[in-house]
Amino acid sequence: MPYKFKEKDNYDLILAIETSCDETSASVIQGGNDVLSLVISSQIKEHQKYGGVVPEVASRRHMENISIVVLSALEQADKTFEDIDAVAVTKGPGLVGALLVGVSYAKGLALSLNIPFVGVHHIDGHVSSNYLTHNELKPPYLSLVVSGGHSLIAECEDYGRYKILGTTRDDAAGEAFDKGARLMGLPYPGGREIDELAKKGDAEKIDFPRARLKGNQLDFSFSGVKTALRQHIDKISEEEFKENLCDIASSYQEAIVDVLVSNTKEALIKTRYKSLSIAGGVAANSRLRKAMQQMCDSIDVKLYLPELKYCGDNAAMIGAAGHYMLKNEEYGKLDMNAKSYIPLGESKCL
Ligand code: KG4
Ligand code: ZN
Repeated sequence: MPYKFKEKDNYDLILAIETSCDETSASVIQGGNDVLSLVISSQIKEHQKYGGVVPEVASRRHMENISIVVLSALEQADKTFEDIDAVAVTKGPGLVGALLVGVSYAKGLALSLNIPFVGVHHIDGHVSSNYLTHNELKPPYLSLVVSGGHSLIAECEDYGRYKILGTTRDDAAGEAFDKGARLMGLPYPGGREIDELAKKGDAEKIDFPRARLKGNQLDFSFSGVKTALRQHIDKISEEEFKENLCDIASSYQEAIVDVLVSNTKEALIKTRYKSLSIAGGVAANSRLRKAMQQMCDSIDVKLYLPELKYCGDNAAMIGAAGHYMLKNEEYGKLDMNAKSYIPLGESKCL
């Protein structure tokens, strides 16, 4: 059903909302890349008790937090509801019960203010996090998205338009970090913990496997390295494990990073793109950032890295992606729904 709202030539001030997983986030963003405020309320402490995100708990916390988070984003930006020109919200993929809180809130807000709303693909948001920092980055370019739920190499053909060249056959890169961390007895989510321990370890101490797949060589698989980690831990004594934890973390991380970098290199050579961006929670990994930079330098490719504060889930990246959807008049309709899965590239979230 079409939704009639007060149309404008330019939707300058966007209120963006992200509730796809365990972070309730709101941001006020101007002109597509000027972040006036970003508020992120993390529920991680509560989910840590269970070793992962509990969907029902996540939805309930979003419900409690959303109004407070939005109001504080407005306050920090020194704006009121009446100043906002449009609302951008993550419509998927993610936990449906969590997404529904943001989508319902965004729709209700847009209706009450008589302004448009757009439903943003979460991965388009991650990729767009680079626009917040790098004004010169413009499609087409290649992107590696590595988060808790996704690992993919995609051509960004235009804003919000993607062609996937490689994806994971099993665990996502972030999942490989988190599951590996659990085997090492580290708290959830384990990516940052492994990153920190790895700095003090020897990356070549244990030769964990790097999956070479049949078929699409740009696809990833991380289940083998995880199994190898389990077998290694089972094989050694508790004492040996404690003594070598930094080396184990470092070698495990190196195996994941190695595959991410070599597949991305292959995709760059194949497609001849001279610009690469990386995005998603795992893009915060210090070893990945360094190794990717070295690889890009070696083949004369310009690498765009998101600022650390924009790597994990946040509403500013949703605002950045929403800005281009508004420009393309991809407005949300009144029956817009949250979705656990939306293919990337078909992200016209009408
Ligand atoms: O993008 P994100 O915040 O949420 C999803 O959309 O999934 O990514 C979360 C993932 C988690 O798996 C977390 O362990 C991982 O990002 N992560 C890291 C680091 N910081 C967060 N992985 C490796 N190194 C890090 N420094
Ligand atoms: Zn994410």
